[in-house]
Amino acid sequence: MNDNKKRSESEMDTAQLVTVSFPEEGPEIAVAKGTLVLDAAIAAGLFINSVCGGIGRCGKCKIIAKGKFESDRTELLTSMEHNRGITLACQTRILGDTEVQIPASSKVGIHQILTKCELVELDRPEPPIWKYHLTLAEPTLENNISDLSRVKQALLEAMADPTLNVDDILAPMSVLRSLPKLCREHGWDITVTLAKFDNYAELINVEAGDTTDKKFGVCVDIGTTTIVMELIDLNTGKSLGCSSNYNKQKICGEDVLSRILYSEEHGTEKLRKLVIENINYLISELIKDWNSQDHEIKKDEISYIVLAGNTTMTHLFLGLDPTHIRRDPYIPTVSQVPFLNAHELKIDINPQAFVYCLPSRSSWVGGDITADILASNLQCQDELSLLIDVGTNGEVVLGNKDWMVTCSCSAGPAFEGGEVMFGMNASFGAIEKIQLTDDLDVKYKTIGNTPPRGFCGSGLIDVLSELFTHKVIDRNGKFKSIAGPRLKSVDDEKVFVIAFAAETGFEHKKDIYITETDIKNALRTKAAIFAACNLLLKTVGFKFDDLKNIYIAGGFGNYLDTEKSIMLGLLPDVSREKFKFIGNGSLAGSYLTLLSEEKRAEAEKIYKKMTYIELSVNTAFYHEFISAIFLPHTDLSLFPSVKEIL
Ligand code: FES
Repeated sequence: MNDNKKRSESEMDTAQLVTVSFPEEGPEIAVAKGTLVLDAAIAAGLFINSVCGGIGRCGKCKIIAKGKFESDRTELLTSMEHNRGITLACQTRILGDTEVQIPASSKVGIHQILTKCELVELDRPEPPIWKYHLTLAEPTLENNISDLSRVKQALLEAMADPTLNVDDILAPMSVLRSLPKLCREHGWDITVTLAKFDNYAELINVEAGDTTDKKFGVCVDIGTTTIVMELIDLNTGKSLGCSSNYNKQKICGEDVLSRILYSEEHGTEKLRKLVIENINYLISELIKDWNSQDHEIKKDEISYIVLAGNTTMTHLFLGLDPTHIRRDPYIPTVSQVPFLNAHELKIDINPQAFVYCLPSRSSWVGGDITADILASNLQCQDELSLLIDVGTNGEVVLGNKDWMVTCSCSAGPAFEGGEVMFGMNASFGAIEKIQLTDDLDVKYKTIGNTPPRGFCGSGLIDVLSELFTHKVIDRNGKFKSIAGPRLKSVDDEKVFVIAFAAETGFEHKKDIYITETDIKNALRTKAAIFAACNLLLKTVGFKFDDLKNIYIAGGFGNYLDTEKSIMLGLLPDVSREKFKFIGNGSLAGSYLTLLSEEKRAEAEKIYKKMTYIELSVNTAFYHEFISAIFLPHTDLSLFPSVKEIL
């Protein structure tokens, strides 16, 4: 087996092995005969588009295979594609040595991962992890208490905490096993790491000498699409590095619902393992990077990890069944996860390190929203604020320091590249900025300045707003009867060409355009978000003008053009300084929780304080939604600045 030839361990135990290679990308791995190409690609560390989670419905996982394999004929492929040897990775089983080519259109691009977060300043870090350097008195025939009692006594003296007594300090077996040798070999000069939450204290590590300057933690945003992590020095609160990657669970489905469906069919174990693999990989990358700059951190010195994710991601991280999240009456297994130790979850840091997941309010308002609120500081303000986190689901929170109401609307994936013919995520080749000239020519900019392959959420908002402003589409989102080289008919549907075939990055050149169906799907998405905001305000008797701040969180929010979003009726037409973009609030909130017990206590109050409104059975929401599906809204008086332009 050569150097880059790895084994897919889960598949290898009993079955006959065959080799699958990906010559363009490099890896060659051994897998069990009968393994799907999609699974083999994952085992090789490669990502193939798999929007439907590998159930053979989306047709996005096209590959070209050469060798010994079997694949069912599918209507998702044209006869020309069948003749060219194209098959679906999720429907192709490897029977003997096989070579796989992944066309560019099937590759998951390098995503613009939102790592930036506007952190709320902490006066000084006060994490619940403490390190004490102790010089213990050597035992004698007279001073004959046990090693553990000796440590506890010295610790209590060093802590000078009147609320704690000896019996409150627990010590796990792993610490007890190493304690006698360590003390005796190092002259009773040791450093202990203590995790202390409220009245609970546990000795989680013992080291030789003085290591008090080495105290580290990790904060994590577990997104459905990406995972972002920061390594933090718990003594100073300083970030030592940030790393991010796709959530490997993507191969089991693009969005939350398809992951739940996957787990219903195959169980949660694979999804749990994938996210833990992700996290362990990112931790090791962070350590490697930091140590390459002349530092020395060991995994064992990481003693606290805080994670924020939506309710489904939190369930899958813990290996909990998410089935009832999607079923009426939408009940999660747990909202507030108890503290866990890293070894229980197989996180590769100090085995006794504490793991904390930010609490979720409901099945659809998760710990990521609790973290967003912490990051915005909405929970401490007298004035009324609105927080919007836009993803496939749009979560909205309205409130102040005294009360909060929240809801989640199924916004649809249009702004994330789904349900739009040339929609794609924000990766290389995605058109992110679009401008129309007066004679309806198009100027655009792509991510990475590479030839275009489609348009991402911000590109979609741009094109819709430009088409509307230039009166190419009417308030229903329908194309007006205008002639021009970019207005065409494709399969009996009117389309507007954004990039002509010759400009594109497709192997088989084709125009990139937006259809009336795409516009309809985008309008549904924007209508759902606006309707959810409006409904929350009306429920408690307020108007948009009563808001002090409108916080926009999440990856999509970060690239949002405020004026264009108002033009479409996605954001309310209010004074522009009310809008505050907080970036990756999920990461920022988990950072604050990692470093401050006060913030963790606030997080626990936030989720209890929120009143959740279920929209799926709310007729008022439906009426709001129908009114908001026009450009910018049925009630133009809500959008005075747009009315003036029109
Ligand atoms: S058809 Fe293969 S992943 Fe959807």
